[in-house]
Amino acid sequence: MKIIGFCNLKGGVGKTTMCQNLASALASLGRRIAVLDLDPQSNLTSGWGITVEEGEPYVYDFLVGESSLSDLAIKREGVDVIPSSLDLAVAELQLEREPGRDSLLRSSLENVPKDEYDYIFCDSPPQLGLFTRNVLAAADEIMVPLESEFYSLAGVRLLDSTVKLFQKRLNKGLEVGGVVLTRHNPKVVINRDVQREVFAYYGDVLYRRFVRQNISIVEASGAGMSVLSYDRNCNGARDYRLLAEEFEERQESHGEKKTQSA
Ligand SMILES: Nc1ncnc2c1ncn2[C@@H]1O[C@H](COP(=O)(O)OP(=O)(O)O)[C@@H](O)[C@H]1O
Ligand SMILES: [Mg+2]
Repeated sequence: MKIIGFCNLKGGVGKTTMCQNLASALASLGRRIAVLDLDPQSNLTSGWGITVEEGEPYVYDFLVGESSLSDLAIKREGVDVIPSSLDLAVAELQLEREPGRDSLLRSSLENVPKDEYDYIFCDSPPQLGLFTRNVLAAADEIMVPLESEFYSLAGVRLLDSTVKLFQKRLNKGLEVGGVVLTRHNPKVVINRDVQREVFAYYGDVLYRRFVRQNISIVEASGAGMSVLSYDRNCNGARDYRLLAEEFEERQESHGEKKTQSA
């Protein structure tokens, strides 16, 4: 079981979109996946057409150890979705005062049987608040979606120094598993320049595959489903299927490297 965080301290870069569509693509390849919506904005939850009614349990109950993933899971496209709620914003204020507040997710995930899932995906909010810190403390690796714009590079450097801080303090094993360009257009000069700069900084951590700008991706989440279910032949669906293949390839070769060095 591998825990993967979707992180970027900037909003609107495609974290939630990638979390949903990559999960759906991997589930269709037979992987067992749970996705946790750790953003009070609940975009991942609504992107799957789910609303949590008042008083119903949601991801908070998992964080505080009162519900298991299987108690909370809502099945969508073969994926176990653990929903969020706007109430999580209020819960954040209260949890901020608790000791060990940055390790809530880590502790709860330690109780999940290791063979229950292949991957647990954690979507995080855009700022370095409580829930992003929880994801960074719990994840084996993070996936970083990035827009091919110049200001994105500053964000990458900030995230990188944050990751280093977490490696020192709370999570020695944390790795940047991949950086993926979203809304990338190889015909646009500035997009290619950014791709080159990110590659110079991260090398092979940058995925070869990228996601193109595609309106069906936006429409799909409005319709409460992944782009793969919405229109399996559109560019967005194609890009996410290819991304899932590269993801799997990298997971396999990473696993082999780890066994060799062990
Ligand atoms: N490849 C894409 N093409 C077009 N729109 C996209 C693409 N990826 C994401 N979007 C849209 O961009 C917006 C922000 O994406 P989102 O995943 O919510 O970002 P974040 O979670 O980082 O804030 C959403 O409206 C989403 O539908
Ligand atoms: Mg989001």
